[in-house]
Amino acid sequence: MKFETVVLSALAAASVALADLNPIVVKGNAFFDSVTGDRFYIKGVDYQPPDANGETSDPLMDYNVCSRDVPYIKALGMNTIRVYHVDNAVDHSACMQLLQDNGIYLLLDVATAEQAISRDYPMYSYNYVLLQHNFATIDAFSNYTNVLGFVAANEVVNAVNTTDTATVLKAVIRDMKQYISMRSPRTIPVGYCAADVAENRYQLAHYLNCGDASERAEFFGLNDYSWCGSSSYTVSGYNQKVANFNNYSIPLFFSEYGCNLVEPREFREVQAIYSSQMIPVFSGGLVYEYIQEANNYGLVEVSSDLKNVTPLEDYYNLQFQFNNTQLPSGDGGYHANNNASECPAYVKGLWEANDTLPSMPAQASQYLTAGAGTPLGTDGPSNQWVPNSVLGSAASSSAASATSTVSSTGSASSSSSNSAGSSTASAAASQGAAVANVLRRGAGLSSFVAPVIVVALSFAFGLVAF
Ligand SMILES: *[C@@H]1O[C@H](CO)[C@@H](O)[C@H](O)[C@H]1NC(C)=O
Ligand SMILES: *[C@@H]1O[C@H](CO)[C@@H](O)[C@H](O)[C@H]1NC(C)=O
Ligand SMILES: *[C@@H]1O[C@H](CO)[C@@H](O)[C@H](O)[C@H]1NC(C)=O
Ligand SMILES: *[C@@H]1O[C@H](CO)[C@@H](O)[C@H](O)[C@H]1NC(C)=O
Ligand SMILES: *[C@@H]1O[C@H](CO)[C@@H](O)[C@H](O)[C@H]1NC(C)=O
Ligand SMILES: *[C@@H]1O[C@H](CO)[C@@H](O)[C@H](O)[C@H]1NC(C)=O
Repeated sequence: MKFETVVLSALAAASVALADLNPIVVKGNAFFDSVTGDRFYIKGVDYQPPDANGETSDPLMDYNVCSRDVPYIKALGMNTIRVYHVDNAVDHSACMQLLQDNGIYLLLDVATAEQAISRDYPMYSYNYVLLQHNFATIDAFSNYTNVLGFVAANEVVNAVNTTDTATVLKAVIRDMKQYISMRSPRTIPVGYCAADVAENRYQLAHYLNCGDASERAEFFGLNDYSWCGSSSYTVSGYNQKVANFNNYSIPLFFSEYGCNLVEPREFREVQAIYSSQMIPVFSGGLVYEYIQEANNYGLVEVSSDLKNVTPLEDYYNLQFQFNNTQLPSGDGGYHANNNASECPAYVKGLWEANDTLPSMPAQASQYLTAGAGTPLGTDGPSNQWVPNSVLGSAASSSAASATSTVSSTGSASSSSSNSAGSSTASAAASQGAAVANVLRRGAGLSSFVAPVIVVALSFAFGLVAF
């Protein structure tokens, strides 16, 4: 009897230890479980439920919220969520443990509405405030073994005229990698999630994977709405992306997918994404998005008291697809080479990023050895500095800060709305239709989101006007 008790408690202890997921590592162009050596495919959903006021909030700080949702996410067959916005000053341990216990990894965006790369003044937004924020977010999450990766920015390059932001983006990726190598208990990949800008998507992808190893991104996510309704591998253009990214040497995946121009969504693309045709080049993807919002991409509806969720038809359609999709065994034909891409050539008005990156600001370099210090949370100072020339007069000053709010929102926090806005636009434009559809959807959104939609719309009209 005594012996059995000992064995049982040893087993209990072992199962507690087992609750933490194995860290995922990058090898060549794929993710692998660092313990079993199995290839890891992202089966994910984008997750950013708003708070009671409809505002963006941190879903991982409130156990009532994450425990309401995780069972539904798990029942879909998901192994990953992407969260666009957290408060780095609060405790996330309860929700992170719940995710661990349910086999769910976290892909985490570090930007917020106040701390993000600016599209209007990218170099001015590259300062110690931004890096302190990003580093403190790394500190807040790097102990959890189920953190799959950090997203340095979302869609900051959203058109042909914002490619200069890529220089700052790449510098931020380099700095986050260096901070992780010096201060994190393990290597956690750092990458980017891109808007699907047809004109320069390959330049951006190769730019982030070119140059010195210390500067290169460790994954590339594509927010891609090219498969609408009963499309196909060829009609959607997935086949061209597979062909064109065939020699790309870091993991590539859809950081958002799920075009809603045809409803209900049947999610037939799931079969393609995990097929033997795609997995040598792609590592799965994340459906946009878990919660139903005004932009109409949700899988579940939340009750007005926020206590319950009700799955929508799209939820069951997606579950059906995952129920009927077998993940391939083995390594999926991944590419082991780590060859850097060639840096894309400068083309005025199309690709203007600089291969020479700015050095880390001196004030930020101190964080590498001393640590980032106290996380300042969502009330911390904004990094959205503007040039003195712009601050010259009161009038231009208020104009400037208004614009930079737009761009920070655009690149960040409400990026659930942001990316949906611009993705709707690009999906609409690439389908050669439905700009009116975008307008209709933009109309119902809150004023917080509205400026982003305006940016997205001008982008859509810009494309249509070409
Ligand atoms: C890029 O072009 C769009 C559409 O012409 C314009 O609205 C936007 O302000 C431009 N952005 C920058 C950073 O120049
Ligand atoms: C992470 O672990 C280190 C070392 O045990 C500890 O000092 C630190 O407070 C932990 N961070 C968080 C956010 O729990
Ligand atoms: C990687 O680089 C090596 C050495 O330059 C080259 O032989 C090989 O073909 C490259 N592989 C790919 C997939 O580009
Ligand atoms: C998917 O499979 C689960 C488990 O077998 C089942 O409960 C669920 O009803 C299935 N969903 C659909 C839409 O077929
Ligand atoms: C792959 O091919 C593209 C286009 O030919 C090229 O720009 C890139 O540098 C190549 N290498 C890698 C590793 O992607
Ligand atoms: C690229 O950056 C370097 C170093 O900051 C600078 O000297 C050079 O002028 C920049 N080139 C372009 C095209 O902006």
